[in-house]
Amino acid sequence: PEVCGAVPETHRFNCYPEIYVIVTRSLCESRGCCFIKMPLPPPGKGGVPWCFYPPNFPSYSLDRLNKTGLGFSGELTRKTKTYYPKDIERLELNVTFETNSRLHIKITDSTSPRYEVPIKVPQVTERATDPIYSVEFSKDPFGVIVRRNSNGLVLLNTTVAPLFFTDQFLQISTMLPSQYLYGLGEHQSGFLHNFEWNTLNFWARDIPPMENSNLYGVHPFYLVMEPGGISHGFFLLNSNAMEVALQPAPALTWRTIGGILDFYIFMGPDPSSVISQYLEVIGFPMMPPAWGLGFHLCRWGYGSSNATWHIVKTMRNYGIPQDAQWNDIDYMDGFRDFTFDSKKFATLPQLVKDLHNYGQHYVMILDPGISSTQQPGSYPPYDEGLKRDIFINTTDGKLLIGEVWPGKTAFPDFTNPETHQWWYESLTRLYQQVPFDGLWIVSHFFGGEGSMHSEPQNSLKHNAVLSGVKGGSLRVKTICASAKQKESVHYNVHSLYGLMEAKATASALKKLRGKRPFVISRSTFPSQGRYSGHWLGDNRSQWKDLYWSIPGILNFNMFGIPLVGADICGFSGSATEELCVRWMQLGAFYPFSRNHNTQGEQAQDPLAFGPLARSAMKEVLLIRYSLLPYLYTLFHRAHIYGDTVATPLFFQFPEDITTYSIDRQFLWGRSLLVTPVLEAGVDSVIGYFPKGVWYDFYMTVPLPSSHWSSKLTLGCGAVGTNAGKNCILVSETPSTTTWMSSGNPMQLIVALSENATANGDLFWDDGESLDTYETSNYSYMVFNVTQNTLTSTVLHVNVEATFIIVDKVTVFGVKRQPSKVTVNGKEASFSYLPNQVLAVSNLYLKLSDGFSISWI
Ligand code: NOJ
Repeated sequence: PEVCGAVPETHRFNCYPEIYVIVTRSLCESRGCCFIKMPLPPPGKGGVPWCFYPPNFPSYSLDRLNKTGLGFSGELTRKTKTYYPKDIERLELNVTFETNSRLHIKITDSTSPRYEVPIKVPQVTERATDPIYSVEFSKDPFGVIVRRNSNGLVLLNTTVAPLFFTDQFLQISTMLPSQYLYGLGEHQSGFLHNFEWNTLNFWARDIPPMENSNLYGVHPFYLVMEPGGISHGFFLLNSNAMEVALQPAPALTWRTIGGILDFYIFMGPDPSSVISQYLEVIGFPMMPPAWGLGFHLCRWGYGSSNATWHIVKTMRNYGIPQDAQWNDIDYMDGFRDFTFDSKKFATLPQLVKDLHNYGQHYVMILDPGISSTQQPGSYPPYDEGLKRDIFINTTDGKLLIGEVWPGKTAFPDFTNPETHQWWYESLTRLYQQVPFDGLWIVSHFFGGEGSMHSEPQNSLKHNAVLSGVKGGSLRVKTICASAKQKESVHYNVHSLYGLMEAKATASALKKLRGKRPFVISRSTFPSQGRYSGHWLGDNRSQWKDLYWSIPGILNFNMFGIPLVGADICGFSGSATEELCVRWMQLGAFYPFSRNHNTQGEQAQDPLAFGPLARSAMKEVLLIRYSLLPYLYTLFHRAHIYGDTVATPLFFQFPEDITTYSIDRQFLWGRSLLVTPVLEAGVDSVIGYFPKGVWYDFYMTVPLPSSHWSSKLTLGCGAVGTNAGKNCILVSETPSTTTWMSSGNPMQLIVALSENATANGDLFWDDGESLDTYETSNYSYMVFNVTQNTLTSTVLHVNVEATFIIVDKVTVFGVKRQPSKVTVNGKEASFSYLPNQVLAVSNLYLKLSDGFSISWI
């Protein structure tokens, strides 16, 4: 029919998203959709759908709309059935104007309750007074339109395709104001998403990172850059298996196979505000212990505690910074959690003691599978677990048995609070022998189809519509979707496994050590930053993977899990010396910096190569350690304000469209630009430097082997609201552990903006006590430069800061040689270096006292 031909190709919304089905005219028309054959896309690429909705395809109508104290409520009804089973004919709509920049829309069954994600979100009791957005509705067919008031731009428009809300298929589409779309993780892709009929899947999955596949993490959140450098974000709070389809209109379709449609829109207007508004809903990230920001060394297959110890001692001998030593599953006895191999790892307790004597820390791995085949009485974690009924059960209520490293295993149900207590008690037994400091959790399931039970042929099978949940099945390498958990059926809570496990693990560590927990998890879900960091999984020792790590860490910073890094030098495969040096040079700037390697490959730690490589690695780690006060402050800002630690360049330069696609460079905070070498055989790198002044960081910290170095620049912006922001960095004289470094003298590095201003701050505490900010046990100072005067204002002080001396101030961008410099009013000696750098050294300023330095 004519109506079909009139739909522009870019605006055809797929009516037949099922995989493994070649859609024919009759299949398509049986759904009441338009069928127009198109040329086949190249293999592996998506193309214009052949079967798509006509403009008048039946949807819901908005039958009742009331103004409420918080916004609107309404009822949606569907009079025509869809082609999927169990349409929910009456839906309840709630629209809440939660804050001036946050809108919340919830659509659910109006007659019976459905599964909702059990994470805590803000409960609003008053309508926003001055929202910067407005909402309109289309009544029949139902749709919502959200606009930005300042320019009338449409941010959400769901009228473009029919709404589906059946028991196991929910779909909503929207137009987007641009193709500058970020987020939607966890996926292996460049920073920007491809809109050429691209589908992204969400269902936590144990698989090495690869393109076009769902991976371990699920983050149904996106950020869009709108014309004019402003932005908004969108979060769908849903934990069921789902997919997002992108098409060139540009438009986006959410399809999920359970739960409800519960979403938030964040109006920014700048990208950093979008992120902090998102984190206000899911929770700001935890404050990590300072040692967690040091360098971590790990590998699978050290084979013994003595071999592990040897590495630690050699690292010390060469003076290479290291805060934590890790062990992988080879420490365990028969791969069983909470045990250690009493022969090969006999000296583990002594190793841990030695680490502690040197102010270093120890982290060990835990997998969730609990061995179920030990003699009763010989393995308490299983016996206890059975007794307390904390394991996941099959549909018919029997213990569910799968297979992981130790053979047959049962799986703790972390949605059950009792499981957290059992996890804590099991950890306590291990802790009494091996007093670990942090834990590494890998919530994967192993052994083919995971569960030893076959999946029952019940309605939960209705999921094949998800085109890319790899293999087209929800049960690859996991337990059956129909398994029973305390909170709900596994089908609903599968992707929350890592989150719940991280929560239990962080809480156990807190109880055991009475200090800030350190947990790194492979699987993640929104709000997980409150409990853990993340590493990007089993990458490969390849140049490509070196690059992938940058979009990876930037995404997780947007997802509220700033403590993130990739396995430095790559997990599988063997790294060449050159690749590994380059990777250490980038990895020294991952917010979470760990070198990890698989078993059976060549060593890739900083000691594994020649002396040149070793010293290049040491140098860059010393740079990281020198910047620890700055990094620590960035984590504090993430914890309190929802700032990013590793920041995309466009967050600082949203008016500069060239920055929108930059994913080979990133900022620490807002001003320190990391431009790593990502290719073989080169000794220089070309980066993009947005308008403004940029200073070579190494100008005052010369690197002897500059041949090996990546670029590090300080930039403070030219014009606009961001100029001068966070451009005063605090560094310290580095030692080989964060503990040793933490009493050393500090330095201020000032990068002046074009109009000669700069500001910055420092958060400092003992580095490990719980809730130091919340209990006022910290120091906080702000720094400012105006009219050739740098001032340090102490806003809060505690004992730590009173030990610390500021011994040097470097100011970049002092245009002419000063004739005089005064420190607290007294004349002081200084040097004026080439390239407009003013250095005032040999200072003895107490950090806990305010001070001022002027130059004329
Ligand atoms: C998978 C993890 O992702 C990897 O980091 C670890 O080394 C192996 N399991 C062995 O535990």
